[in-house]
Amino acid sequence: MSDKLWGGRFTKNESQSALEFNASIDFDKRLYRQDIAGSRAHAAMLARCGIISQEDADAIDKGLEGILHDIEDGKIEFTIDNEDIHMNIESILTERIGQPGKRLHTARSRNDQVAVDFRMWTREAVEKTMEDLKRLMHSIYNRAEAGQDVIMPGYTHLQRAQPVTFAFYMMAYFEMFKRDYSRFSDCLTRMNENPLGAGAMSGTGYATDREYLTKKLGFNRTCANAMDAVSDRDYALEFLSSASICAMHLSRFCEELILWSSAEFSFIEIDDAYSTGSSIMPQKKNPDMAELIRGKTGRVYGDMMTLFTIMKGLPLAYNKDMQEDKPPVFDAYDTLSACINIFADMLDTLTVKSDNMEKAASKGFTNATDAADYLVSKGVPFRECHAIIGEIVLYCISHDKSIEELSLDQLQDFAPEFDEDVYQRIDIRSCVKAKKSEGSTSFESVKNMLSDSKTYLDSLNN
Ligand code: ARG
Repeated sequence: MSDKLWGGRFTKNESQSALEFNASIDFDKRLYRQDIAGSRAHAAMLARCGIISQEDADAIDKGLEGILHDIEDGKIEFTIDNEDIHMNIESILTERIGQPGKRLHTARSRNDQVAVDFRMWTREAVEKTMEDLKRLMHSIYNRAEAGQDVIMPGYTHLQRAQPVTFAFYMMAYFEMFKRDYSRFSDCLTRMNENPLGAGAMSGTGYATDREYLTKKLGFNRTCANAMDAVSDRDYALEFLSSASICAMHLSRFCEELILWSSAEFSFIEIDDAYSTGSSIMPQKKNPDMAELIRGKTGRVYGDMMTLFTIMKGLPLAYNKDMQEDKPPVFDAYDTLSACINIFADMLDTLTVKSDNMEKAASKGFTNATDAADYLVSKGVPFRECHAIIGEIVLYCISHDKSIEELSLDQLQDFAPEFDEDVYQRIDIRSCVKAKKSEGSTSFESVKNMLSDSKTYLDSLNN
């Protein structure tokens, strides 16, 4: 007979190579807290339902509590002989308390055990990611609040387009992270269902109380179908998808910081504490953190694709392939959390070079749309205005001038409707101020955005 917990129907032990290949303890040991919480709830439920005695349940509970402390004090060595965290803990328990330990696995399978452990782990990961995002949104908000008067160019095709405020730019990212937050919150609501009690896949013949387990482990609902409960990992995929979208937003933001910190833009300076030098070029100050976040985004996408690919084509119910679900989820959580926090640190400490931003906004004809709108206000149809200003821009380029540097006479050569008040109207500050639509870059509108966002952030803290 094999000496495994499941060894009864075997005539000999598995080979050393199979043992090593099969084991997941090296990574699933991260589930120890959830595994112990799940087992304590399960033992209490078994006693309540009269399936095991109260004395056995008490012994199990005390035993598991001791194991929890010993793991946290680094006193326990796990072994691949016991394959995974579930069997490691169960073996240690039985070693310590004897017979009652052998009753713990009544009315339970490792399939619902791993399902509940991993779901609880992922639930916590989502909650912690939401905390990270809250911190990031605060950092962005603070930057925006301080940058309401700073004018910079907004771009399309990375060509200067129209003047905006730095606050407006920052609040665009705020909106993205706000949606990321709500994506995590949505998937949290959906995943908060308890698979424990599903057994191997068809339920159990014991009169168990799944509702009790559900409440005890803090779930909102009990999974409705035992086969689905042990089979799906869509909650982990939702986490990975939301994490990928969030990492993509961070990566775009990083790309901006990388560009803005170059001599070509010179819009910001990243603090020395979040920059590195070159081993050969003494003058270099590189935005490594931002580049790494951009790079690590690929890793998070990879984690998502890993799990999608593992799950694709698996027949119901549990298959061992699913043991491979954990490393990508652990990795994506660790990676994203590190990225969000270092990004927030970097954002909190960087210097905004507002003069350079404003200078850049004044060049590149960012007021051309407003010049066209000026002519519209004088009764010229927009399409004609567009053509007239286009010709003026062409003229300015060849004479190395900006629109406001032309005299009124020169402007009137292009369109008699021009008047003295044009200069005031196409000043970049006026261009910003003149925006009237909801959600625009006008100072007024950004003030409203900030105040709505403040209310939103406060609501997250309650
Ligand atoms: N280590 C396994 C995993 O992570 C636990 C579940 C094993 N179940 C089974 N029927 N072999 O998926």
